This record gives sequence, structure tokens and C-alpha cells, in this order.
Amino acid sequence: MSTRITVAKGDGIGPEIMDATLEVLAAAGAQLEYDFVELGEKVFAKGVMNGVDPKAWDSIRATRILLKAPITTPQGGGYKSVNVTMRKAFGLYANVRSVRTFEPFVQSKHKGVDMVIVRENEEGLYAGIEYRQTRDTSHSMKLYSRTGTELIVRYAFEYARANGRKKVTCLIKDNIMKITDGMFHQVFKLIGAEYPDIAKESLIVDIGMARIADTPEKFDVVVCENLYGDIVSDIASQIAGSVGLAGSMNLGRGCSMFEAVHGSAPDIAGKGIANPSGLLNAAILMLYHIGQGEVAAKIGNAWLYTLENGQHTGDIAQDKSKALSTADFAKAVIGNFGKMPAKLPAFATGCGEAVRMPDAAATTKSVRVKRLVGVDVFLDKADADIAEMGPMIERCGTTSLPLKTVSSRGMKMYPGKPEVSALSDLWACRFLGKEGEVSADAIRMVLANLEGLGFDWVKVENLYTFDGVPGFSARQGE
Ligand code: NAI
Repeated sequence: MSTRITVAKGDGIGPEIMDATLEVLAAAGAQLEYDFVELGEKVFAKGVMNGVDPKAWDSIRATRILLKAPITTPQGGGYKSVNVTMRKAFGLYANVRSVRTFEPFVQSKHKGVDMVIVRENEEGLYAGIEYRQTRDTSHSMKLYSRTGTELIVRYAFEYARANGRKKVTCLIKDNIMKITDGMFHQVFKLIGAEYPDIAKESLIVDIGMARIADTPEKFDVVVCENLYGDIVSDIASQIAGSVGLAGSMNLGRGCSMFEAVHGSAPDIAGKGIANPSGLLNAAILMLYHIGQGEVAAKIGNAWLYTLENGQHTGDIAQDKSKALSTADFAKAVIGNFGKMPAKLPAFATGCGEAVRMPDAAATTKSVRVKRLVGVDVFLDKADADIAEMGPMIERCGTTSLPLKTVSSRGMKMYPGKPEVSALSDLWACRFLGKEGEVSADAIRMVLANLEGLGFDWVKVENLYTFDGVPGFSARQGE
């Protein structure tokens, strides 16, 4: 029975590599029907800021599977990345990228790399919630939900188990970001305990990435939040020499999206020289996903044989004079159907054990008492003298909600005398309840007092405790 899928040919080299991929799929006998849709540059040009043609939404809603070539995101001007839009709109919370080496057939700095990166896809800084509220400062909200974190961590362990993987490594920066990354780490330990058959490792992201760059062969499954995952998957693909070769899948609650790891490569677009392997591998992942494992293996093994046989596109060819065009590479793969790789590990014909997609988690509901205990009020004040401004702000506090600190860029500036003057025009004034809980009226009173003294408050962050644990970070120097 054939499966209907949505196909977007994308931008730059997209149409070339998609045509090559579809030719291979057809020749291999993949049971597929296509709904072609427009995503990307042509849609942006019509003034649709998210780059998604209205008809594409209906198609994806109906097929729930999207095979997508890379898309160019115009810089600036309010355009939204199509990739990020698709991930968020369809709840594609897991981005799974495999990183492999193909030595000695494809040159690489490392040997024996076989790693899978499971990247959280919807949250973190990629939530894209950014503000500029003063002339000098801008900020971006790094948003982690406990639910999203539990989903991605559990998915990583489920993926490891279903694919016979032995270890899951988590990358975090919880020595600095104790609330967000601290929660990610805590969830990793909590959920990891349910998988005694799988080894666990936690690394601070900076040294973790350095180790991945140095000894990638020691890593198996890596799980991390969005930005770290984006960076680490590019580092890993680059050092393995497989940026142009790797496919990735985006899985979640609404639908699944399969794409190459690389971008639209505008520098080589239209020349017919791009390597279609990344998209072809994405299509192989899709075939496994929809239960066409035999066709997936037929294409995958012919592709590996083609690499072993030295039939390469220019990006990986050792003898550039013998490099194949995109179309000829596709023909070479088709010509090698039925052949098996001699050295590289072959693709399996079965679809393997399906990865159990976890349901939304519920542990957040275990918090019993949430208390409002204070407020951080952010003021816009350029060229302020804190020795003069501090006591004025202090007067705006009330008996029940007094001023605790005034800080600049996370560093306490008042009370006390700072070592150096503040550079920015954004000041965070922390008012903390004397008796624990405070009322919204008390906060309104503080704001009115600040306004009364002519302060321009631009942002208010309420401070809560959860079962007594502060849900806000302490100030440096507090
Ligand atoms: P890129 O991956 O398009 O290109 C980086 C380098 O790798 C270029 O020199 C390019 O020629 C080469 N390259 C990439 N794919 C290749 C292939 N299949 N065969 C041979 N060589 C290949 O990254 P770049 O230049 O940073 O981004 C270009 C555009 O792609 C941007 O607009 C970016 O937003 C978009 N992009 C889209 C992605 C997606 O749709 N999933 C992912 C990454 C970037």
C-alpha cells in the first residue's frame, strides 16, 4: 500500500537534490505518492512572513509526513525560519541527527564515529522570544518547560533502547544557569534512573563539545537543549566529514519531517554538483519510519556501495576530476541496487523496534505550593549614578516589600559600593517580601512609587517559590 507524503523542493540546491532523491526512490520501488508544496523563498516573496504556503499547511495536516529540501531564510526583516515554524507548529520536539564516518572511503579526521544527537527542537533560545526595552539592551528568553525537557530526555532513552545503543550523554551548563539547565540535568538523572540498562553521562556543555570534537568515537547518544544541540550536531557532522551526507528526522506530536542536515548551499545552486546524500539519507529514515524497511535498506546499501566504489560528488571526491554530478550520482546509486557494502556496516532490512514516543509528562503537577514572594522591576535609566539612584529606589519599597538589591547585568550594584560603574541602562530592582508571601497589591504599590519618582519601568518579573524552593536566581555578589 502506498503512503502519501508532502514534498517541498526548497531553495538553492533543494530542487536539484530533491529531484535526484525522488528518482532513486522511484527506481527502488518505494510505495509513495507525492503532494508537492511550496515552502521558502517563493512564498516569502509573496509577503508570507513564515514562508509557508497556505496550501502546504493542509497537505501536511493530511499526510503528517514532510520530506523537505533545505530552505533559505532571508536575514532580518521579520522573516521567520520555515524550519523553526514547522517544528513548533507541528510539535516536532525531537530532532534526531546521526553522525557517522565512512573512512577510508570519505576522508575524515576521525575513525569509527557512530553517534546520534537528540536535540530538543521547540524551546530554549529558539522559542525566539526577544525584546529590546531600553536603548542599550536587548534580551532573549531561554525558555525550558519541565514537560518539554521530560519529553526529549525520555525520547533519547527510548531511542537508545530501541536502537541497541549503550550510553546517553547529556550536555548542560548548570554551573551557571542553575534554574533552566539545572532542571534539565535533574530531569536527566530522574528519568535516566528508569533505564538501568543504559549508561549515563553528564557533561558541562563547553568541555562536552570539546570532547566530542576531540574523541567523537567515544560518544553514543547525546541529548541536549535546542541551541547546544544545533551547535554540537554541526561540530560533530563537520569533524566526521558528513555535513553533506547526513539526514535528520524531526519527530513529535503532530507529524514527522525528514530533511538533510545541511542548508540550501546558495554558492553552488544551479550547478548540478551538489551531493544529494543528505536528503537521500533523510528519505531512508522516512522509509523506515513508514514501514518500508526493505526499500530503505535497498537504497541505503546501494548508497554505501557507491561510496565504497569511489563514485563521489565533488564535495567528497578525492580525485576532483572524476567527481560525479548530482544526477549522475543518483544514477550510480540506482545502478548499484542489489549490491552490498564490503566494509561499511550495512543497513538492516527490518524497520527495527519502533521508538516509543513518550506522552506529555506530568511531574510538574507534583509541586504543591507556589508562593509569590517578591518582584524584580527593571528600570530604563541611562548614565545613572547608583550612589544617588539606589536610595531613591529604596524609598519606593514598602514595609512588607522592601528593596533587596539593585543590579546591572546580573551583578549587584546596590546596596554597597560597586567596584566599577555600570555600563548598561537596564537596572533590575529586587523587592523581596519580608514575611515570605506578598500580594499583587504590594507589587502595584511599588510600581506606583517608582512611577511617582519618575522612574521608567520597562519590565516586571514576579518572584515565586515552589514548595519553598526559589524560582529565581541570586544576583552575582549578593
Ligand atoms: P550550507 O549547509 O547551505 O552550506 C555550507 C557549505 O557546505 C557551503 O560551502 C555549501 O556549498 C556546502 N554544502 C552544503 N550542502 C552541500 C551539498 N549537499 N553538497 C555539496 N556541498 C554542500 O550552510 P549555510 O551557507 O550556512 O546556509 C545557507 C542557507 O541555508 C541559509 O539561508 C540558511 O538559513 C539555510 N539553512 C537551511 C537549513 C534547512 O533548511 N534545514 C539548515 C541550515 C541552513
